[in-house]
Parts: sequence; structure tokens; C-alpha cells
Amino acid sequence: MATTAPTGSPPSPPSLTHPPPPRKLTSVKALSESPGLSSIPSIYTFPEQPNHEPVSDTKEPIPTIDFSLLISSNPDERSKTIRELGKACRDWGFFMVTNHGVPERMMKAMIEVCREFFELTEEEKGESEGKHVLDPIRYGTSFNPSLDKILYWRDYLKIFQHPAFHSPSNPPSFSAIALEYSKRTRGVMKEIVRGISESLGLEDKYIEKASSLENCLQIMVANLYPPCPQPELAMGLAAHTDHGLLTLLIQNDTVGLQVLHKDKWVNIHPIPNSFLVNIGDHIDILSNGKYKSVLHRAVVNDRDVRISIALAHGPAADVAVNPAPMLLEDGQNPLAYPAIKYKEYVELQQSSKLDGKSYLEHIRNRGI
Ligand code: OGA
Ligand code: NI
Repeated sequence: MATTAPTGSPPSPPSLTHPPPPRKLTSVKALSESPGLSSIPSIYTFPEQPNHEPVSDTKEPIPTIDFSLLISSNPDERSKTIRELGKACRDWGFFMVTNHGVPERMMKAMIEVCREFFELTEEEKGESEGKHVLDPIRYGTSFNPSLDKILYWRDYLKIFQHPAFHSPSNPPSFSAIALEYSKRTRGVMKEIVRGISESLGLEDKYIEKASSLENCLQIMVANLYPPCPQPELAMGLAAHTDHGLLTLLIQNDTVGLQVLHKDKWVNIHPIPNSFLVNIGDHIDILSNGKYKSVLHRAVVNDRDVRISIALAHGPAADVAVNPAPMLLEDGQNPLAYPAIKYKEYVELQQSSKLDGKSYLEHIRNRGI
């Protein structure tokens, strides 16, 4: 906004130390509720029409792991499940986990309380607006609006939940529900990480120790994808891989997640009440690339609101994980992964813009 300086007083010079405040953006929720919205603003329009890429209609379902067998006291059941888990990590990098013991009502309550958060007024949600990517509570839209040339059809709330638990104060019930859910999810994550460790031929606690899992950085990302009048032109979230060891995702009953499998995008239809689990960049590093963090993205639709809640579990903030030496074959060099603390990795990845590649590839090329 241009203002005229009163005569005599020179215009104040631009501040050199403070970047201009980021432009205020409307949430996609508010935009989608504008009366009579029948087309989307050009800032949300992807020229290459990402949703028109071929999507595999393969009926090959993503693998399912029965958690109750993974923690079974019957050694045969357990080792068979660990073999299945290893295969799922190698072939897909994504799998569903059933019989995990987290009550259905708790998962539903978590989704509902996130819905309530997004339904607060813009002013109320604005209280949770983060200024920096490592702020423990951060409400926003798109991925990185100051860098995204085209905005994503998505609002989000990101919260650090472990080792220190944070919560917005509104809705009032958020804190109690999220605290319980985050604890239960960590319990499931820990058992899967043990199974993954064994499936790699490592001691069951290898990854746990190498990543100081008792202090794991657990970040909740609640995503809201409102109905979009031109879903074929918009994108919910561009292709990316997740930082950390494992992400556990739940959603309301609206589909939208696509996973890259054998060079094709596959629509994921999760079994109700299951967790959708994926390998993150730090298992990729620890396994020396044996288990890859896989590209995935979110597409939108013109009918239903979609809510997904991803809990990313990383090593402790100050740990820099390395490839496990015993996974290197004779004479093989470790892949050139940067030795970088988890917190710094998160900061770099979250401050960048999504470019359709794994962030690992990105920083490997930059040779950090
Ligand atoms: C994420 C993510 C996918 C989805 O939050 O990292 O990949 O389905 N979300 O919302
Ligand atoms: Ni993701």
C-alpha cells in the first residue's frame, strides 16, 4: 500500500534487517466457501494439470501388516510378519497397519477435533500462525506460501508433540485428545521400528538406539483439503517424501492420497481404522537405501472435505543418523548421505519448496 509522506518528513528507508512480513493469505477453507465459487483463482492453477497424469488402475492393494502378529509372543507368527514387513518396505515403502490397538473412537475424535480447529474463525486460527518452520505450533496454507509459485489447495496445522507436547488452546478439548493420541501412536511406531530393524537383519533395538527414539521428535500435521470446483487443475500437496523414520497417517473417509509405485501414481483406499504407514527419509539413510522413502502426494475433489492427520516420527532433534555399517556389502561405500542433525534437516526441508523430488536427493546433490 502506498502512503504519501507528510511534507518535510522523508519516507522511512526500507529496513535492511527485517524481511517484509509475509503477505496475508486467505485460507483455502475461506476461499472454498466464497459464495458462487465456480472456478479457482489462477494462483491455484497448475499449467501441467497434475491430476491428468495417468493413475494406475491396478487393483494390486498396498500391503497390510497385522500389528497383533508383529507383537505376538509366538516366534513363528512374529518372524513371518517381520518378513512381510520387510517386503512391504522394499516393494512399496507404504503399508497399512491393522489390529494396532488404538481405539477407533480415539482416531475419530482426533479427526473431529482437527475439523473443529479448522472451523474456528480466521482470527482464532491466526493465533496459531507460526513465524518459523521450527515453531512448535504452526497454522498455515499451501506448503510454503512465500516460495510456492502456485499455491496448494490445502490448509494445515503442524504441532510438535514430543519430546515436549504442545497444543493450541482452542478448541479446548484439543490438548487432551491429541496428548493421548500422540502417546498411543508412538507406541505403535516403536514396535514397527523394531520390526523394521529386525527385517534388515539388525538387532531389534538398533534403529531405536541409533536415533535416540526415547526423545524422538514427533510432529503432527493435520491437513484440510476443502472441496475444489476445478479439482483437475489444482493440487492438494505436491509429490514429496517425508522426513523422519516413519509417518502414521489417518484420514476421514475421503480418498486423495496417491503413492508412486513402479513409476505410476496409485490411489490409496485405506482399510477403515487402519494406519497408513510410510518409510521416511531417515530409514532410507539408516538402511543405506535398502528401504526407500517413497514419493506421495494429495489430490483434491469437488464434493467432499478431506482431512488427513499425519504423525511424523523422527530421530531425536540433535541426532544425525548414518547408514548402519553392517548393511554395507563387502567393499560397498555408504551412499553419500549428508551427516546432518534431524532438526536441521527438518528446517531445511520445511523451508524449501516442493519440487517433485525427494528432499534427500536434493541435499545429496548439493553435497552438504
Ligand atoms: C503429509 C502428507 C498426505 C495426505 O502430510 O506429509 O503426505 O494424504 N499428506 O494428506
Ligand atoms: Ni507426506
